[in-house]
Order: sequence, then structure tokens, then C-alpha cells
Amino acid sequence: MKVLLVGAGAREHALAQSLRRNPLVELHAAMPHANPGIKAYAKSSIIASADDIGAISLYAKSIRPVLAVFGPETPLVAGAVDVLEEQGIPCFGPRKALARLEGSKSFCRGLLAKHGITGNPRFRSFATPDGLEDYLELLGPCVVKADGLAGGKGVRVWGDHLHSTADALKFARSVIAGGSAVVVEEKLEGEEFSLMSISDGKTLVDCPAVQDHKRAFEGDAGPNTGGMGAYSMPDHSLPFLNSHDLKAAHAITEKVMKALEKETGSPYKGVLYGGFMATAQGVRLLEYNCRFGDPEAMNALGVMETDFAYLALAVAQQRLAEFDVKFAPLATVCRYLVPNGYPDAAQKGGEITINPTALSSSGASLYYASVEERSGKLLALGSRAIAVLGKGESLEEARKKAAAGINAVKGQLFSRQDIGTQALVQKRVSHMAQLRKK
Ligand code: AMP
Ligand code: GLY
Repeated sequence: MKVLLVGAGAREHALAQSLRRNPLVELHAAMPHANPGIKAYAKSSIIASADDIGAISLYAKSIRPVLAVFGPETPLVAGAVDVLEEQGIPCFGPRKALARLEGSKSFCRGLLAKHGITGNPRFRSFATPDGLEDYLELLGPCVVKADGLAGGKGVRVWGDHLHSTADALKFARSVIAGGSAVVVEEKLEGEEFSLMSISDGKTLVDCPAVQDHKRAFEGDAGPNTGGMGAYSMPDHSLPFLNSHDLKAAHAITEKVMKALEKETGSPYKGVLYGGFMATAQGVRLLEYNCRFGDPEAMNALGVMETDFAYLALAVAQQRLAEFDVKFAPLATVCRYLVPNGYPDAAQKGGEITINPTALSSSGASLYYASVEERSGKLLALGSRAIAVLGKGESLEEARKKAAAGINAVKGQLFSRQDIGTQALVQKRVSHMAQLRKK
């Protein structure tokens, strides 16, 4: 069973591991850099940037895989699935028209609004500055988002980056001047969670809910990052959610899955990852991603009991209903080690060493991200370097394992020690309880 995997992060290393658990899988990888973890699982690989559809398609022609699995959003938004499906290759990942859900924030908000799906905050999209100032004054505390993919850098939040309507106006105008539309929305108060749902266009199966930590430093301080680490619980909910929240989030995603097919004529095959916020008024949608989260993929795949290769093929062939998708009732804590200076001035080229005995006795799993082997040395390339996943019967057990795994890695790196601690989880629970009391 030849499978082509696209991407080179820790998420894709985890995908490679899950795919290779099936002994029939022969893995081939198209990677933007030579991820040593993926290479170890792959029979062959090429270096290709994630949006180089020409290179990916040529490689697919030479391999003739029975399935292509996509990690990152870039190839999906660029239309790689359309090209591979044209070649007769079933894909785990949505076509271009469907990946717009992540690729365009105004498309996403507009889809929910058009189909009467709850979950949007008050919002408006602007392609020109006409009416912008009036709307910002009406909203007060707001969030301003550049419409397209901006690698997490296109969003400005009131209180963090924006301190007045004038600030918001200035940023929104600069985005429009740069040629992009802008989405302006009401600032919501609550706790964020990621609900990744696997969709074949007909059936929708949720992964355990996960909470990511976007800020670089402990106590949620510092700049936003791709995600410094995430945890999940044995009951697959999160301690600050009530019994309605996950059902409400699932219902939103299910309606979005159906609305997307109505809009585009194609079924959504792959992951619908909703970034939600639990608020005192109920669950609200922040954004959709058209792929697994990173680090959230490690949390979810780390406890997936169902054969992922067969599952992904079933998604591509719209047979998901045949599967009883199971996740082990375990807690997970995933922590990223990132180069000093990350994200604004990350050191590049620092050597990383891993103590295999310490890693193995920690019981944690390690995933390579932005690292490469050169002359026998493991070097950091300048983005998130290594992810470590701990699993256990309790969150504390998972956290301890992850911490022991982190200690097996040495280099000019840092990580957030507070992820999965009781203190941090309690802070989230108290915050939600306080909002719900108001
Ligand atoms: P997005 O890329 O749309 O998920 O936005 C990035 C981050 O901005 C989210 O993870 C939230 O922390 C924050 N954010 C986005 N939209 C809102 C909103 N309407 N209210 C409050 N915070 C938001
Ligand atoms: N961890 C956030 C993301 O994958 O978008």
C-alpha cells in the first residue's frame, strides 16, 4: 500500500508514524526539508516546497500511490488535491475550493452567515476602507484579521496589539492597502480549544478536544507562535468545558461540512479543525483550518487506536461510516522545544543532541520538526525544533513523561514548562467559571 505524505513538520512525523503502524504501508514523502524522523519511515523521499504542486505531482506519477496524505495547509490551499485526484490518486485532504475555509477568513465567516450556522461573532468583511471606521467605532473591542493565509501573523487582538479604534483602523487600512481584504469582528472573551474532526463529506468523527498554547512564554506571555504545546484529557473533553460545548462545536462543524458541499459541489475529505472559544454565551468559532493542528496532531494521533492508514483511505473513498474510530482514554501532553529567540529572532544552526537512553526511559515519544542532519549532527533550522509527547492515565502522569522526555534533549532551546500543569489548567477552569457566573 504505497502512501505519499506531504509535509515535513512534527505533525507529519506523527502522521508517518501512524501510517507505518500498518505493516502494509510503504511510505514516500515530499518534504520541504529533510526531516530525519520522516526519512526513517520512508522508502523514498524528495525535497519539495509544500506549494510546489508540479514537483509533488511528478513525484506522485513516478510512485503511483494508492493514497496521498497532506499535513500542512499550503498545498491544499494551492490546489494539490485537485491535481492528484485528476491523476486518479485518492487524497486525505480537501480540494482547493474547500480549503478556502482556512485560506480565506471572509469566506469562512460568510459561509456560516449564509447558511444560518451559529458560531460567528459580530463581523464584517471589508475590501475597501469604506465604512470601516464607523464599524470599528460601533464594535469597540475588536479583532482585525487579514483575509488570506498569513502564517498566524495577520491577526491583531484588542488589548494585546490594539489599544484603540485608531490602532485598529490603522492596521485594517494597512492590510487593505497591501491588497488583501480584512475581517473585523467583535472580541470574544473565553477559553480556546481545538476540535479536529475527520470528515469524508458524509460522516464526521471528532478527535479528542485539545488545548493549544500559542504564546511563546510561560503564563501565556510573549508573542504568538505556531503553538508551544497542547494537552488533552482521558475523557476527550477539557476541564473548562461544560457538557454542551463539545456537542455545540461538533454541530457547527457538521453543518459547515454540509454547507461546503452545497457551495462547491465537492465533499470535504480530510480534517475540519475548528478553533473554538467557549464563552459564557456558548461556543463561538474563531477559525477553521483544513488540516490537523500542529502540535494537536501529536495529541490526537498519539491516542488513536484505529488503523490510520485504512482510516485515511476510507476518508478519501467516502467510506468513513464503516469505521468505528477509537481513541484510548488517556491524557496527553505535547511540548515543543524551540530555538532560543523564537519566534521573533530564532537562532539557526544550533546543534541538538538527544540522549537515547534517557529518552527511552522517559516513556515519551519524540517528533522532529524544523531540524536537519548535516555531517552527522542534528541542527535546528530556526522554527519549532522538536516535539515531545507524554501519555498517561492522568494529566499529571502525561506531563511528567513529557518533562522527562524534554530533559533527554540538549541544545540552545527552550520550552514552556507550564503546559499540562494543574496550576495552568485551574486558571482556565476559574476563568471560565468566573465568565459563566457574570
Ligand atoms: P485566528 O487565526 O483567526 O484563529 O486568530 C488567531 C488568534 O486570535 C486566536 O487563536 C485567538 O487567540 C485570537 N482571536 C481570533 N478571533 C478572536 C475573537 N473574535 N475574539 C477574541 N480573540 C480572537
Ligand atoms: N496549533 C495551531 C495550528 O495548527 O494551527
